[in-house]
Amino acid sequence: MGAAFAHAETGAEAWLRYAPLPEAERAKYASLPASVVVLGDSPLLRTAQQEMMRGIKGMLGRTLLEAAGQVQERSLVLGTAADIRAVAPELNAPHEIRADGFWLTTGKVHGFDCLIIAGATDRGVLYGVFSFLSRLARGENALTPNVVEQPYAPIRWVNQWDNLDGRIERGYAGPSIFFVGGGVRGDLTRAEDYARLLASLGINGCTINNVNANPRVLEESFLPQLARVAEAFRPWGVQLSIAVNLSSPKVIGGLDTFDPLDPRVKEWWRAKIDAIYRLVPDFGGFVVKADSEGQLGPSTYNRTPADAANAIARALKPHGGIVFYRAFVYNHHLDWRQPKNDRAKAAYDNFHPLDGKFDDNVIIQIKNGPIDFQVREPASPLFGGLRSTNQAIELQVTQEYTGQQRHLCFLAPMWKEVLDFDMHSPEIPSAARKPYSLKDGSPPDSRDDMDPSPSASSGSGFQRVKDLVSGKTFHRPLGGFVGVANVGMDANWLEHPLAMANLYAFGRLAWNHNLTASEIATEWTELTFGRDPLVLNTVTAMLLSSWNTYESYTGPLGAGTLTDITGSHYGPGVESSERNGWGQWHRADHKGIGMDRSVATGTGYSGQYPPEVAKVYESTTATADELLLFFHHVPYTYKLHSGKTVIQHIYDSHYEGAERAEQYVRQWEALQGHIDDERYAATLKRLEYQAGHAIVWRDAVCNWFLRTSGIPDAKGRVGHYPDRIEAESMQLQGYRPLGVTRAETASGGKAVECVTHAQTCAATFKFQGNAGRYELAVQYFDLNTGASKFRVRIGDRAIDEWVANDHLPARGVGGDSSTRRLIKGLALRPGDAIRVEGTPDGQDHAAFDYVEVRPAREP
Ligand code: GCU
Repeated sequence: MGAAFAHAETGAEAWLRYAPLPEAERAKYASLPASVVVLGDSPLLRTAQQEMMRGIKGMLGRTLLEAAGQVQERSLVLGTAADIRAVAPELNAPHEIRADGFWLTTGKVHGFDCLIIAGATDRGVLYGVFSFLSRLARGENALTPNVVEQPYAPIRWVNQWDNLDGRIERGYAGPSIFFVGGGVRGDLTRAEDYARLLASLGINGCTINNVNANPRVLEESFLPQLARVAEAFRPWGVQLSIAVNLSSPKVIGGLDTFDPLDPRVKEWWRAKIDAIYRLVPDFGGFVVKADSEGQLGPSTYNRTPADAANAIARALKPHGGIVFYRAFVYNHHLDWRQPKNDRAKAAYDNFHPLDGKFDDNVIIQIKNGPIDFQVREPASPLFGGLRSTNQAIELQVTQEYTGQQRHLCFLAPMWKEVLDFDMHSPEIPSAARKPYSLKDGSPPDSRDDMDPSPSASSGSGFQRVKDLVSGKTFHRPLGGFVGVANVGMDANWLEHPLAMANLYAFGRLAWNHNLTASEIATEWTELTFGRDPLVLNTVTAMLLSSWNTYESYTGPLGAGTLTDITGSHYGPGVESSERNGWGQWHRADHKGIGMDRSVATGTGYSGQYPPEVAKVYESTTATADELLLFFHHVPYTYKLHSGKTVIQHIYDSHYEGAERAEQYVRQWEALQGHIDDERYAATLKRLEYQAGHAIVWRDAVCNWFLRTSGIPDAKGRVGHYPDRIEAESMQLQGYRPLGVTRAETASGGKAVECVTHAQTCAATFKFQGNAGRYELAVQYFDLNTGASKFRVRIGDRAIDEWVANDHLPARGVGGDSSTRRLIKGLALRPGDAIRVEGTPDGQDHAAFDYVEVRPAREP
């Protein structure tokens, strides 16, 4: 085993492992100075110095001498650009360093050759240290760097949807790192570790509670608790913020109204905000979800979002605080019978008319797409619809609709598509530019020169979503990125060992939206698993294909994720989006599928885009295949650009996607011994699960469309499973057949479950194939209402047993709980009796669906 993975790895260090560099590389750093001198004194600067020592110790095995103020030998020198200039006046940065930017360089300080990390601010110094250490870890030349980096956008925040009771809304990695039992945790070590991870990416703010906010966070007694979280964040330059409930003045404030224009309400917010700043002087501001999904808002008093946002923003303004007002405002009681109704139109309809009415310290926080974090959506037209209002893009790191960290789904390629999307908004003349006003953040005009992106120089006027949200297109004082992260107490933060690539990608894109998904995947893999070429090639290839793979076996052609919309948002639930008010309709019936969102014949949504874009989406033929069903209703026999019919595409993509998920297992298996055993095994387990669940998805979606359209699969696969023996057709003892509610989520629409109070049940069948080597797949249902046990026998011989105790979001038998157990390398002879035994537990009745007997694959 190599030095890089000699010890057990939990994933807790994420990309900050500082694993020992290979011997040869360490030798190159023999000339690295032996001391680290920090100029100036502040918590952030001390953190920067400590981090440098920690990184060097880990990677080079050397303990740097720490010093402050005076450079008395060759040193690593850390300080703000101003302090560096004072000791080395002849040093000149190639560009001015602004905002949270930094400069890594070499030069003489007091006559000694030094390696210098200069930041525009203390925070910039810390970011510079992280960047230096990342370069060292990734084998870049860190001895003689000359790099200036500046963030593209001032706003780089994460949101956590943590409830005060410690549960996390749409969190899949354990309980909250901030809250437990109604208050802030006593031990905030994890919160501090999280702030360190965030800082290493340049993320400078974190909202710690659910957007469906509990008004209690603003209670007098709660504020000192919040202050403790701010203390944990402060050494890492992460500003604390909270989500607030607009009805707070009434619910906890004792007023009889929360009308944002009522002077008493305004005064209540002012006093509350002043009280917060007394305890947390560097407090960031508020996130507001209002008039949405049951959260009250200004519409109660016929006021607008601008009225509400500005009322709070004015109280925050003297302190430098900001309001993130979420554009996720829609009616979830839409009448589905009305073909013109369309939830996708809501954000634009609600906010575009208010453009220019929001104060300068308000940011409209816009989800990447117009619906809700589906596996594929077009870019929200609202990005092009706000010219005189700050905006930020909200991206979801936690994989709510993309496999909930049980499926591998690296989202950077999806985010890049949205960020690079060109809105073709006509640019406003420069005379109409708004003056720069806020005290923090870099002036937009001077940021232009650091953007090497084609969009900045192409003359197309910075109309890509990344330019719009960064404030560049319309010269806004604020703008940027918000990631819904939802890390939890699980040691590795996001449960799936590869899921942290998404948090990393979010942070890197927020810092530099021109990085490619491939660059980000490479960086993350090098930092997380080391630089073994086999590991690097395999992991990056898996990451980069995984979104497309997930999309292939879930929701095709922009129809939405096809998951259980009204429940778990996890397993297949093709029909769950239909005939209800939530508006995530795909309108599939026996003739065709898709939402007609054209202006000519549909809901008119395409008309919300600027004309050049609208023209494309208005036309069925001009719309790209992958978004066809988002914009158009077509018959199943409609021919795609690919030449396939829609229905055959649905069948083929689901088979291809499931096949690719299975390949991930084999690709990963080739890495055994090339990475540490712990993360190898943990990842393998999840990839095996994913491969099984991809088949559940494939079969559910394909069978639903076969049943609904009546059009068979040209390749004869859907509905024909020659290797399968249905449980209900076996000889049953104690088991009884069970009709499954969403029939397509169980093979043949049926499963078997143990009769209540049974001790152990059994289902037996005789193997009828030729003698040879086989593998068995047992498709069983793993419910979270108990931990049933399974055993498989061939004749009298027990060949496998397991406990169904995973924590799937599944209370019942169906697509959320259906799980595959693979038993490999079995010698079978004709006539062998294969027996599945199930022992129920609690409300988990040891249900299973079928057994598949397949010839063993060649290794
Ligand atoms: C999704 C998610 C909710 C969340 C909401 C939001 O709909 O399922 O749990 O509250 O988004 O972003 O506000």
